[in-house]
Formats: sequence, structure tokens, C-alpha cells
Amino acid sequence: MPKSDLEKRYSGLIEAMDEGVLIISRKQKILLSNRKAATLLPWVQGLDGKELRDVITGPVIVDAAKAVLEERKKERITTPVYEGYSGDEAFIKGRGRERTYRFTLSPLEEKLGVVSIIDMTKVERLSLVRQDFVSNVSHELKTPLTAITGFAETLTDETLTMEEIRGFSRIILKNSSHMQRIISDLLLLTSLDRAEIGHVMTNTTDSRIFQEVRSYTQHKANAKDIEVLFYPADQEVTCHESLIVQAVANLVLNAVAYSAERTHVEVRTRIHGDMMEISVTDEGVGISKEDIPRIFERFYRVDKARSRESGGTGLGLSIVRHIAIIHSGTIKVSSKPGKGSVFTLSIPLS
Ligand SMILES: Nc1ncnc2c1ncn2[C@@H]1O[C@H](COP(=O)(O)OP(=O)(O)OP(=O)(O)O)[C@@H](O)[C@H]1O
Ligand SMILES: [Mg+2]
Repeated sequence: MPKSDLEKRYSGLIEAMDEGVLIISRKQKILLSNRKAATLLPWVQGLDGKELRDVITGPVIVDAAKAVLEERKKERITTPVYEGYSGDEAFIKGRGRERTYRFTLSPLEEKLGVVSIIDMTKVERLSLVRQDFVSNVSHELKTPLTAITGFAETLTDETLTMEEIRGFSRIILKNSSHMQRIISDLLLLTSLDRAEIGHVMTNTTDSRIFQEVRSYTQHKANAKDIEVLFYPADQEVTCHESLIVQAVANLVLNAVAYSAERTHVEVRTRIHGDMMEISVTDEGVGISKEDIPRIFERFYRVDKARSRESGGTGLGLSIVRHIAIIHSGTIKVSSKPGKGSVFTLSIPLS
């Protein structure tokens, strides 16, 4: 089919699609593409007329195209992509900067083929985050539930003294409120996964954020006689205010929880270009090099027994990380065991 006919027939259709679309000839030459394809494959200038293998190298794509064009089969491939590379090569060349694309190749009339391209990078990341999730949740809920069942059973013994009954009831209460905390944290995390926070960003200042954080954390700090000092830059920032308050409060509560009595915690804002950096510094137990990469995982705690005893769910930092990610920000930590830790949350000013 001459190119002009092809354009007449398909260009309106493919421009209307959300996917990147390439129509390829029997010899794997790109005959027609839409604008989305150009944004997904920005390393080539002008897709039309190029060979498919010059746009994305890697045997899987080329083999799939062959199967589609010669055997009229439909193929679907999800692969890492970096610049013009796919598969393992994209991994090696991209060093963490590769993206995940899904290519769906289908036969089209007159021995042509059509390739549709979807960027799956975000979806892929979320599914990785979820991987061990169910087994972790079950385990974390089972521990307090076992205690509740056990002590409830003991309570049915008619020979118990009032003192014993009160003691067992207290254990049941403590464990059920722990379960409640896990569930409400999990619900928050799930809502963050789905959040379209772009719509609920507001203008606020770091001073206002710190005021809220103070009211959330003062009680715990006072209980340990820890002074929390706030140094705002009194800077305007566009963010999801209540989530940022929650993130900074989680960091401050950790600083308090993992420090000795009568120490200091500092909360400070610095502006770096168009980013706002909020750091929380403590003089606490610190975190070893081996544990640092793991503390942002759901349910991970350095000292499981101790943290659970103090009511920790191990979800606090993964909530902070999620809040950073949905603001296109980052959370970093540096720490010296025995000396203290600094957690730094960076978010764009607008
Ligand atoms: N400031 C800190 N100093 C030392 N260790 C820390 C600090 N913050 C976090 N950690 C370590 O990282 C682990 C994970 O922290 P996270 O806040 O996710 O969970 P948690 O504090 O145990 O429970 P919670 O969900 O109640 O916050 C903690 O158990 C602790 O071992
Ligand atoms: Mg915590």
C-alpha cells in the first residue's frame, strides 16, 4: 500500500491512541508512527523510514516482529529498555536508569504489522514493592493474634484472681491496639499507592508543617525528656500538606524512639535550588551500614523484638518513602552506630 494511503487510513486512528504505535512493513521497516511513539523512543529522530532494529536492538523484539510478519502471530513482550537497547543489554547500559516497556506486536492487513508500546515502569515498580507483602502481613498480624487468642482462652479459667484477669486483659488490649495500628498504616499505604496527589497539592510553608509536627510528637518527646528543636526556613512550598506532616512526624517519632532520654533532636529546612530539604537529626543508637538499605522496606526493623515491644509496626519509614516518591522527592539517611542518624526528606518546592 502506498504511504499516502496508509496515512489516510491510519494516522487519525493511531494519533488518538494513548500507546506509542508503529506500523511496520514485512521487512520490519517503520512506515508510520504516532507522536506518542516519538516520545517513548526519543533517541531516534524521525521514526518513519527507519528499520525497527535500528530503533530498538535486542533479539526478542526482532524475533517477535518476525513471528508476527511471517507467521501472523500476536506477540507480547515486557522488557527493560534503555536508549536503543532492550533486554539484558538495557540493564547493563542503563545502570538503573532503564525503563520497562511492554511491546505488543500484531499482524495488520496486507502483510503489515503493528507495534504498540506502553511504558510500564511505574506499574512494575509498584508490583515489586508489593511482592512479599501478603506473607509479611500475615506474619505480622499472626503474632499479636496468637497472644490475644492465648490470653482470651486463659481468661475463661474460673479460678483466676481479679489481679490476673486485669493483667491478661491488659495484654489483650495491647495486642489488639497493635493490630489496629498495623491495619491503619496498611490502609494508608494502599491509599498512597493509588493516590493522585496532583489534585490535592496546596501552598503552605515549612513553618506551618513544623507546627503540626510538633503537636503530633511533643507528647512522646516529653515522656523521654527529649528536646526537639525546629529550624524552619519559613519557605513556601506546594505539597500534600497532611502527608508531609505525617512523613516528618514519622521521622521525629523514630528519632525520639531510637534515642536515649535527655538527648536532642533537630528538625531543619535547607533550600537547594528548587528543592526543599527537611532533615531530622538525632543523637540516638544509629543504624549499621548493613541495615540502612533495608529500613525502608515494609515491616523491617533492626531490633524486631524491641521495636514490637515498644509498639512499632515497621511501616513508618516505608510510609515516609511512599510520601517522598509521590511528591517526586527522595528520602536519604546517613548514620553512625552509637552516635546518631540524619534522615533527609527532599521535595520539590513546587
Ligand atoms: N532515627 C533512627 N535511629 C535508629 N534507628 C532507626 C531510626 N529510625 C528508624 N530506625 C530503624 O529502622 C526501623 C524501621 O523504622 P520504621 O519507622 O519503619 O518502623 P518502626 O519505628 O519499627 O515502627 P513504626 O511503624 O511504628 O514506625 C526501626 O525499627 C529501627 O530499627
Ligand atoms: Mg517508626
